[in-house]
Amino acid sequence: MMKRNILITGGAGFIGSHVVRLFVNKYADYNIYNLDKLTYAGNPANLKDIEKKPNYRFIKEDICNFDAILQIFRQYNIDGVIHLAAESHVDRSIKDPFTFAQTNVIGTLSLLQAAKTVWSESNCGGDGSVSPRFYHISTDEVYGALEMNNPKGGDEPGGGPYGDKFFTEQTKYNPHSPYSAAKASSDHFVRAFHDTYGMDTVISNCSNNYGPYQFPEKLIPLFINNIRNGKPLPVYGKGENVRDWLFVEDHARAIDLIFHKGQTGETYNIGGFNEWKNIDLIKQLIKTTDEVLGNPPHHSDHLIQYVTDRAGHDLRYAIDSTKLKEELGWQPSLQFEEGIKLTVQWYLDNQEWMDNVVSGQYLEYYKDMYEKR
Ligand code: NAD
Ligand code: DAU
Repeated sequence: MMKRNILITGGAGFIGSHVVRLFVNKYADYNIYNLDKLTYAGNPANLKDIEKKPNYRFIKEDICNFDAILQIFRQYNIDGVIHLAAESHVDRSIKDPFTFAQTNVIGTLSLLQAAKTVWSESNCGGDGSVSPRFYHISTDEVYGALEMNNPKGGDEPGGGPYGDKFFTEQTKYNPHSPYSAAKASSDHFVRAFHDTYGMDTVISNCSNNYGPYQFPEKLIPLFINNIRNGKPLPVYGKGENVRDWLFVEDHARAIDLIFHKGQTGETYNIGGFNEWKNIDLIKQLIKTTDEVLGNPPHHSDHLIQYVTDRAGHDLRYAIDSTKLKEELGWQPSLQFEEGIKLTVQWYLDNQEWMDNVVSGQYLEYYKDMYEKR
C-alpha cells in the first residue's frame, strides 16, 4: 500500500471523528493528521479509542491561521486533504453569521492557498509518486429548498414521498441561511482552485447525518437526551419540514471512496433516499427511545412542544445520489429504523459522554487541549 500523509480537518467533530477513525483503522500505512481548533463542537473524547494509534496525530490549529497551516503542510509533507472543519449549526449561523463566513469561507481559502503553495513546489510522496488531492466536504443545503408537491405521501414513479424533484449535481446553488451561504461560497472557491490552478479537487454534498458523537444541539441527539430526561421537545413551526437522513458511517464510507476513486474536479451528492417529515421522525424517535428505556408506549408523546419556526427554514431537502452509486458503487448499508435504534441505544449507553457535553464538563476535562495554542 502507498504511504500517504493525509490532513483531515475538523476530525474532533461529529462526522470528522468517524472519518478519522475509519482512515486510522483501515489504512495503517497512512499518517493521519487530525487538525482541529477545538471549538465547542470539537471533543477529543470522540476519538478516545484511536488516539494512541501510531499512525494518528492530533494538531490543534485554526484553519484560518494561514501561516501555521502552511508550516503544517511543509512539516508533515501533506499530500491529501479531507476538509470537514466548519461551523455547522444553522441556528448559530442566524445569530452569528460573521463566524460562519470566517471559518467556512476564509478557513477553506486558507487551506486551499497553503495546499497550492506547497504542492506547486514539492514532490509529493518524496519522489513525486503521489498525486495530491484536496477533498472538500459540503452539504445539500447549498442547493436551497425543494417544493413539497406530493404532501400526502405515496411513491410516485421516479419521485420521493414528498415531491418529485431531488437535488442533483446539476442543481443551481440557492442557499438561504448564513450557514449554507458560507458553505456555498467555500464550494465555489474549491472549484475556482481546480479551474484556475489545476488543483486536483473533489467535492461532495451530503444530506443530514445522524449517529454517535453528534453534538446535542442538533435534532436527533438533543431529542434523545430530552426524552431520557423528560424535557420538552421543541418542534420548529408545524414540524412539516422534510430532511433526508443518512447514517454517519455510511457517509464516512462514501468519503473514503470519493477520496480514492472520485474523478478530479467532480462533485458527488451523498444521501440515503430517506426523506422524513420532522414530526414523523420525532414520533419515531419517541417510540424507539421509550422502547429502549422500557417505558410504556406513548409515554413521552406529551413532551412535544410546537415552537416558533426557524427563520428562513428550508422546507424540503432530498438528495439524488445516483451518480455516486453508478460511478463508484456506493450505497447506504443501514435501513433507517435500524440506524435510529442503534443511535438511540448508543446515546443511552454513553450517558457519560452526553452528560459531559451538556454540562460543559468536557471543556474542563480537556482543559489543557482547549487552552493550548
Ligand atoms: P461539527 O460541528 O460536529 O464539527 C466541526 C469540527 O470543526 C469541530 O471539531 C470543530 O472544532 C472544528 N472547527 C470549527 N472551526 C474550526 C476552525 N476554524 N479551525 C479548525 N477546526 C475548526 O460538524 P459536523 O456535523 O461533523 O460537519 C462536518 C462537515 O460536514 C462540515 O463541513 C459540514 O458542513 C458538513 N456536513 C455536515 C452534515 C451534518 O448532517 N452534520 C451534513 C452534510 C455536510
Ligand atoms: O442537510 C445537511 C445539514 O444538516 C448539515 O449541512 C448541517 O451541518 C446540519 O446541522 C444539518 O442541518 P439541519 O438544520 O437540517 O439540522 P438540525 O438538526 O439543526 O435540524 C433538523 C431539522 O429539525 C430542521 O428542519 C430543524 C428542525 N429542528 C431542529 C432542532 C435543533 C427542530 O424542529 N427543533 C430543534 O430543536
